[in-house]
Amino acid sequence: MKTILVTGGCGFIGSNFIRMELNEHPELTIINVDKLTYAGNLENLADFEGDPRYQFEKVDICDRAEVERVLASTPIDAVLNFAAESHVDRSILDSGPFITTNIVGTQTLLDACRKFNIPRYVQVSTDEVYGSLGETGLFTEETPLAPNSPYSASKTAADLLVRAYYHTYHFPCLTTRCSNNYGPYQFPEKLIPLFISNLLADQQVPVYGAGTNVRDWIHVVDHCRGIDATLRKGRVGEVYNFGGRCEMKNIDLTKLLIQKLGKTESLIRNVADRPGHDLRYAIDCSKAEQELGWVPQYTFERGIQETIDWYIANQEWVRRIRSGDYLKYYAEQYGKRLG
Ligand code: NAD
Ligand code: TYD
Repeated sequence: MKTILVTGGCGFIGSNFIRMELNEHPELTIINVDKLTYAGNLENLADFEGDPRYQFEKVDICDRAEVERVLASTPIDAVLNFAAESHVDRSILDSGPFITTNIVGTQTLLDACRKFNIPRYVQVSTDEVYGSLGETGLFTEETPLAPNSPYSASKTAADLLVRAYYHTYHFPCLTTRCSNNYGPYQFPEKLIPLFISNLLADQQVPVYGAGTNVRDWIHVVDHCRGIDATLRKGRVGEVYNFGGRCEMKNIDLTKLLIQKLGKTESLIRNVADRPGHDLRYAIDCSKAEQELGWVPQYTFERGIQETIDWYIANQEWVRRIRSGDYLKYYAEQYGKRLG
């Protein structure tokens, strides 16, 4: 593989993926197609500016002509679609951009890739397409799709388009579905970076409901290794689940972050629950382990400590994000809840 095109590479997972690929594959060139929404940040890949193996294109994946211009510019061995609106709470406030980017954007990209005979396409999806688990059980690749939020519904629609393009056109696509990621460069709207950033500033942390919802946490580098394994070894038309085998209740995770940061539990604020809040996510990743030889390498203990250390060392990165539009979003999302 010589040249790959990554969409959404200025976001959290895409930037970690590009960094990992460029560091581990010296022969590889990467084209990063990103619209630079509120979540896209050129700073996330500042270390590769000027590197001849890295090319940035400010392009919206919904813009067919622009996507085709980039695809026509050089032979491309694979396209990986990370670009998305990714935050459940924002999808509850306004689903419009989720339908546009996650569904129409995926369709636009798929059609352009078909036209240019791209030999391999990886759709980066989420376990949220499976809906919610009760107290027991795990999501497998066979679990029926049952999304509950506008975000997960839009990701499911994209997955179904990918599935349909494989079946209808034999388009060579693969899909990954991963559980909740954490790690460096995550936008401070998701639970872990939001709570670390608030705690560092001695601000309250808003726990939805009683905090008994469960998420299965995976370090972003383990997810990126899974995407890489899918790209290089996966069977076309297949779906691969990835997870950290690390289930935690939100309230227990919150208390752990407080303890590690040396703060007090009086900063916890139990606020009104998220509408339609999925109770529990947990992944069976045995297919990826058996077929791709992938296993998560990070323990949560190591991953969360490194993540906390990264946010402490990069408070300027956080500070630059937490202004302007971010403050407007924070007030709209939490103003009434926090009172
Ligand atoms: P993110 O919100 O941090 O980054 C999204 C990136 O996509 C940003 O750089 C943004 O500018 C770009 N983008 C948005 N709309 C675009 C458009 N129309 N055209 C081009 N670029 C656009 O998201 P993330 O957390 O890095 O997630 C990346 C992917 O992984 C998403 O598809 C998401 O659904 C999936 N995923 C995320 C998680 C998680 O825990 N964060 C878990 C499983 C799957
Ligand atoms: P989040 O990081 O938004 O990921 P997702 O909703 O995609 O799983 O949320 C993780 C969990 O944390 C989820 O159960 C919702 C909860 N949560 C809070 O309790 N408070 C918050 O401010 C946020 C952002 C999330």
